[in-house]
Amino acid sequence: MCGIVGYVGPNDTLGVLLGGLKRLEYRGYDSAGIAVIDPSGGLSVRKRSGKLSRLVELLDDAPVSASGTGIGHTRWATHGGPTDVNAHPHLGDGGRLALIHNGIVENFAELRAELERDGITLLSETDTEVVAALLGREVERVGDLETAFRAVVRRLRGTFTLLAVHLDAPDTVVAARHNSPLVIGLGEGENFLGSDVAAFVEFTRRAVAVEEDNIAVITPQSVRVTDFAGDPVEFAEYEIAWDAEAADKGGWSSFMAKEITEQPEAVANTFRGRVVDGRVEIPELSALGEERLREVDRIVIIACGTASYAGQIGAYAIERWARVPVEVQLSHEFRYRDPVLSPSTMVISVSQSGETMDTLMAVKYAKDRGVTTVSVCNTQSATIPRESDAAVYTHAGPEVAVASTKAFTAQITALYLIGLHLGRVRGTLSPEEEAQAASAFEQLPQAVAEAVETHEQIAQLAHWMADTRSVLFLGRHVGYPTALEGALKLKEIAYIHAEGFAAGELKHGPIALIDHGQPVFVLVPSPRRSPVMHSKVVSNIQEIRARGARVIAIVEKGDTAVLPYADDVIRMPLTDPLFEPLVQVVPLQWFALELSTAKGLDVDQPRNLAKSVTVE
Ligand code: F6R
Repeated sequence: MCGIVGYVGPNDTLGVLLGGLKRLEYRGYDSAGIAVIDPSGGLSVRKRSGKLSRLVELLDDAPVSASGTGIGHTRWATHGGPTDVNAHPHLGDGGRLALIHNGIVENFAELRAELERDGITLLSETDTEVVAALLGREVERVGDLETAFRAVVRRLRGTFTLLAVHLDAPDTVVAARHNSPLVIGLGEGENFLGSDVAAFVEFTRRAVAVEEDNIAVITPQSVRVTDFAGDPVEFAEYEIAWDAEAADKGGWSSFMAKEITEQPEAVANTFRGRVVDGRVEIPELSALGEERLREVDRIVIIACGTASYAGQIGAYAIERWARVPVEVQLSHEFRYRDPVLSPSTMVISVSQSGETMDTLMAVKYAKDRGVTTVSVCNTQSATIPRESDAAVYTHAGPEVAVASTKAFTAQITALYLIGLHLGRVRGTLSPEEEAQAASAFEQLPQAVAEAVETHEQIAQLAHWMADTRSVLFLGRHVGYPTALEGALKLKEIAYIHAEGFAAGELKHGPIALIDHGQPVFVLVPSPRRSPVMHSKVVSNIQEIRARGARVIAIVEKGDTAVLPYADDVIRMPLTDPLFEPLVQVVPLQWFALELSTAKGLDVDQPRNLAKSVTVE
């Protein structure tokens, strides 16, 4: 949450900062601001509540000139509402210093009281301004930005990435991280800082992931990293696998639309190289050692939101193939329930960003208890995969829309691969099953591409349903978490009340919600491959239809059994039953997008949300 960018170098500083903020805006869009050192040696700050476009308007009205050093921020409000005065950067040392922050300073109240006792007046309600003021006071005392910065970060509790500039060090940006992300971009005669590589991938593919509790000091010619005590820390650079175009909208009306259509490649890229000649092999898991994988007697999948639904779907497949009990827990619940863990437990975290604080804390908790931790993650070198014993990357490419789509299908793919790998190593997967799953993977990209083609039909449906106030989603087995995901998408971007239910659960209460005209999406399993479940779902459809529901059935091509009871039928390509979520979720994604569009909402940046939730 909150995007930060820093730049030192000879190029168009404002362009770099605004471009970086544009790419990071998915991390929060309550306000945006920049601070640049101007050529006359002054510090220019512009900030404004609302989206980045409002800051750009402000800069048109009140331009700044920059000399090559600057910082920029896009905010998801925590302490203090989304107002101009609470927007970052915040100033210290009589306006000679500017600071931006991602995270929450938990001891800010006591620090604020200390400053006020010292006669320092703060203008905003933020925890960040407290840090700026502390830093200003410390710079005045010790006369040096870096020394002062080190002293201040040692006093902070909570989570933070901080970037600061000071007029006395006009070609330097200092930065620190504690439980919040920070990466350095290495250029030629210029260097960058960002919450993630999207901030600067347009300019360089060389990056350094700053480790926990480290400070980075960048100038155009140098990059230094130390710990909080000031001792030098060695760092390794890596090459960014994403290119800048991948994070561009490329002619699509929204990132979400683009990302829905990218799902065939997202799933293919995730299994490519891991399914070879009918055999599934994940080298990152092999590196843990076969013995360790054989000893696993319980798996706990931890994740939040959409990633947790991917986890729930993955759990069916892992249990089927690896015959290990799997439970799925929300990361923020996991560590507070005093979970029963043993050395033979494996904890698999699922996270697109790899920075979700709830999940990161749960992974650290599990690690501290000696269990094997595996991360399913989409973001190269993010904190969660680096904290884990093994990282199985999804290769969905950058996901920019706040509502997750391609990361979801890639996460399911990765979890299925993990299930197959474990099943093979543990001897619970027959060669026939492995071959059948491998062939299902081969056909998957084409099947997902066909599901993407339902767009037009769904757009018409959404057009007619633009005034809908509530939608229900039903599914059984892997269709149940898919239903939950369909409901989440709708809540998130169309602000419509939506609920997902296990179809069998309806008669235990929720059927009371069904009234005349209530729209209900029903995910119907294959009649060929799951005849028993299919007939049960058809019965559920009849039950709700009899009570007036408007039924939108998502069915396998050729399934005619539901036709008499469905108002709308959306046809899906044939797939293996376990793989149905990967195609059935696509029309649900389109539906949420189209309803959001019909209501005139911002599809990519829904209210109150941010993509990377780096606060607990
Ligand atoms: C919903 C959505 C969120 C995320 C959740 C976890 O569309 O995107 O529910 O799935 O915040 O985020 P990651 O996967 O980054 O840990």
